[in-house]
Amino acid sequence: MLNIPYDSALHVPLPEGQPILRTVPMPSDTNYAGDIFGGWIMSQVDTAGSIPAIRRARGRVATVAVNSFVFKQPVFVGDIVSFYANIIKIGRTSITVAVSVYAQRGAREGGEEICIKVTEAVLTYVAIDENRRPRVVPQG
Ligand SMILES: CC(C)(COP(=O)(O)OP(=O)(O)OC[C@H]1O[C@@H](n2cnc3c(N)ncnc32)[C@H](O)[C@@H]1OP(=O)(O)O)[C@@H](O)C(=O)NCCC(=O)NCCS
Repeated sequence: MLNIPYDSALHVPLPEGQPILRTVPMPSDTNYAGDIFGGWIMSQVDTAGSIPAIRRARGRVATVAVNSFVFKQPVFVGDIVSFYANIIKIGRTSITVAVSVYAQRGAREGGEEICIKVTEAVLTYVAIDENRRPRVVPQG
């Protein structure tokens, strides 16, 4: 039986507004130790960040850089994981997005649900054309 941290001191409110993505990790998403694999979170973060980038670019984008990625707290099977993504910079062909990830847990165990900030990341996407070459981001 895993010892799931239930530290109310870590509790934070969810950000205002709707997350761009919300999902629940499954046992198949764990590493050998039974916690959620960092690569699963990175994949979800990349997807979440691409959504505002695609909308702003009005078309296809490619991830060119992961500028920063911090796993602040572990994620566990059954957590309700919410991804919030905000564009923080628009260049000539690139769009940089900050993604914050929160996990809600506890309700299923019969306790009070707490919300923990688990990950912070900044990624840069490039608007690309049909030949996968950079294209200028359209005017706002
Ligand atoms: C994305 C890609 C098309 C960009 O092509 P490129 O010839 O390297 O593009 P450029 O050098 O003209 O740079 C394009 C933009 O990306 C930015 N950029 C490039 N490298 C960057 C980096 N390491 N960090 C942040 N921004 C970067 C540039 O500053 C430029 O932005 P701007 O136009 O807003 O000033 C190309 O690198 C590529 O296809 N990469 C693989 C993408 C991919 O497969 N991603 C999935 C992960 S496997």
